[in-house]
Amino acid sequence: MAAVLPLADLKQQVRPDTWLNSIIKGDCVAALEALPDHSVDAIFADPPYNLQLGGTLHRPDQSLVDAVDDDWDQFVSFEAYDAFTRAWLLACRRVLKPHGTIWVIGSYHNIFRVGAMMQDLNFWLLNDIVWRKTNPMPNFKGRRFQNAHETMIWASRDAKAKSYTFNYDALKASNDDVQMRSDWLFPICSGNERLKGGDGKKVHPTQKPEALLARVIMASTKPGDVILDPFFGSGTTGAVAKRLGRNFVGIEREQDYIDAAAARIEAVEPLGKAELTVMTGKKAEPRVAFTTLLEAGLVRPGQVLTDERRRYSAIIRADGTLAANGEAGSIHRLGAKVQGFDACNGWTFWHFDDGQSLQPIDALRAIIRNDLAKLG
Ligand SMILES: C[S@@+](CC[C@H](N)C(=O)[O-])C[C@H]1O[C@@H](n2cnc3c(N)ncnc32)[C@H](O)[C@@H]1O
Repeated sequence: MAAVLPLADLKQQVRPDTWLNSIIKGDCVAALEALPDHSVDAIFADPPYNLQLGGTLHRPDQSLVDAVDDDWDQFVSFEAYDAFTRAWLLACRRVLKPHGTIWVIGSYHNIFRVGAMMQDLNFWLLNDIVWRKTNPMPNFKGRRFQNAHETMIWASRDAKAKSYTFNYDALKASNDDVQMRSDWLFPICSGNERLKGGDGKKVHPTQKPEALLARVIMASTKPGDVILDPFFGSGTTGAVAKRLGRNFVGIEREQDYIDAAAARIEAVEPLGKAELTVMTGKKAEPRVAFTTLLEAGLVRPGQVLTDERRRYSAIIRADGTLAANGEAGSIHRLGAKVQGFDACNGWTFWHFDDGQSLQPIDALRAIIRNDLAKLG
């Protein structure tokens, strides 16, 4: 069972092992204050919507709609909601690592207020993601469009934080080799995934779909990272984090939700290391200088390189440059020069003879990269 920590205990000790993969019971602002600075890699926050529902909602057949009218969604005014938003966002900012990112999900009732507050507090907005619901609930009241989406804001801690995790290549590869778009299509949580109590009723009114959390987590974290959810509810973030080999910390104030979340997470089997390896692209690979090939003895001074069809040739000089036709330069510059081009990728243009065929020098760079990977 995921450990459940009363806030009072947490305040005694702030060692990571006391709160990692636990649900902290209490108010999120107070609980966040008990966590160390810069201790989490990512945050997913699904705060109260402040729906301001007046009275009960009925379907056209007069049956009662199970709407979000819980105490935790009640605020006396927009000012009170804003003050609460400011307090939890500030507390999140302190615990977020400098290169961590935060996701906040909301509807038209709250997301604009939350987004403005995030900018006021210096978060740097990276995207707004529209979660389009394939099976949205109908609106039973009001002359307006059906609410068929929610919005997620994804932000870094500030404008200077550039090296946040974004698994661009893996997302693209998983999307038919097309860059992943900012509009995502998922059904709302239903069927077996929806937690139900003994009475058959939903355990939580706003349980988010696991597929949504999986994309969030796969996009912006690495295996082993710590993801904080200050509005844990039924524990969707914790369940998906555990399955995907990430750590979580949840904060929730309602005991019933905590019990349901703890049991749910307990039942999750994490995926294995091989399934969780994140695909990276060329940019993520370590930089290797051409001279490293010389230093490693994979090429030698005086050796001749040619293009794939042996139309151009150059010799390798001891200083790691190439020379041809009285010109010298880097593998890229000389590759471009001999062809009369402005630019050239020297790694794929220049080839060496391995005794049987011509191979691109990129194959030698791959050997160095392999060795570097073994070093960790
Ligand atoms: C929108 S729901 C989150 C649902 C969750 N994402 C899920 O998939 O189940 C918001 C949750 O925040 C909790 N909550 C509201 N105010 C809180 C506060 N000040 N501190 C801690 N939890 C709070 C509520 O009890 C509720 O479960």
